[in-house]
Amino acid sequence: MDKLNKYKELINKELEEYLNTKISDNKIISELLGYIKDYTLRGGKRIRPLIVINAYNCFKEEDKELIKASLFIELIQTYLLIHDDIMDRDDLRRGGPTIHKIYFDIRKDVHFGNSMAILAGDLVCSFVYDSIIKLNFNDNIKVKVINEINKLLEKEIYGQIFDIFYDSGFNLNEKNILNMYSLKTAPYTSIFPLRIGAIFGEASEKDLKLFEDIGLKIGIAFQIKDDMLSIFGEEDIGKKLYNDIIEGKKTLIFIKALELSNHEDKEFLKEKYGNKLVMEDEINKIKKIFIESGSLDYCNKLSNNLLNESKELLFKNNFKKEWKI
Ligand code: IPE
Ligand code: IPE
Ligand code: MG
Ligand code: MG
Repeated sequence: MDKLNKYKELINKELEEYLNTKISDNKIISELLGYIKDYTLRGGKRIRPLIVINAYNCFKEEDKELIKASLFIELIQTYLLIHDDIMDRDDLRRGGPTIHKIYFDIRKDVHFGNSMAILAGDLVCSFVYDSIIKLNFNDNIKVKVINEINKLLEKEIYGQIFDIFYDSGFNLNEKNILNMYSLKTAPYTSIFPLRIGAIFGEASEKDLKLFEDIGLKIGIAFQIKDDMLSIFGEEDIGKKLYNDIIEGKKTLIFIKALELSNHEDKEFLKEKYGNKLVMEDEINKIKKIFIESGSLDYCNKLSNNLLNESKELLFKNNFKKEWKI
């Protein structure tokens, strides 16, 4: 754990230094850069850069460029989350206001807020490529990494398209939902951070493929847990609790509860889940249905099984160095 915390501190330091290079004399741009910096640095578990670093360490000794080489994925995280907050109408992220909310508050204009947040996300997307180009790795590796980033974003955006499309009354089952998670979350959270760390470490095609299989399991498990936390999270998660219920997000825990609950509870879910006027006692009843239908249990078991399978895959293969996450 100490090692992870040490890396986390180094990642934060490098991220701050990188963002400090983006300065402007223009007041409008410099304010926007300030908001982006605060949003990026005020929280975040940094699991993705940590995965890049650990994947690299499986193949090569530590390199002084390694931390810098892991920043791109945290910049992708900022870019995607700023846009995701607009799509999910989330005003709170990492314990502070989201970018569209900050700009909404300035002019009390939703369109202005959303437009500024779209632009902020796009700007950070350009930083992703800039941070890779500036790395002191050979050009062949950098081209391979950029190619992986493009594949990652393509999948991620397909996943977000399904996420948004499904929210407005699409007929769903567990298979659609897990497929959506395997696109919107797994590529950018685990598959590509693993693969890109391994590419920086000059790993073989065989190991890249193995990391892809492991990353898929980790990423799906991660999203299932994230959905559970947004409803059952006990500690402060820096995001608005129950937003998935209010927005009617089609998550596994919801779909499974619909499938497993009795007729009366099903009707209640259909009426109240996604109802913007849902009351506190109705939210509590939804939580009770999630528990009593067995959906919460099902999601817990599935995500734990996926994590155990990913660990097994990892440990039965011999890497140069011991895995440290
Ligand atoms: C949030 O990711 C988005 C999901 C894929 C669920 P994280 O839970 O890693 O968010 P931070 O970076 O720690 O804030
Ligand atoms: C975000 O997914 C995943 C991205 C691809 C950016 P969610 O919308 O489920 O995550 P949170 O709950 O906002 O962090
Ligand atoms: Mg979302
Ligand atoms: Mg969201």
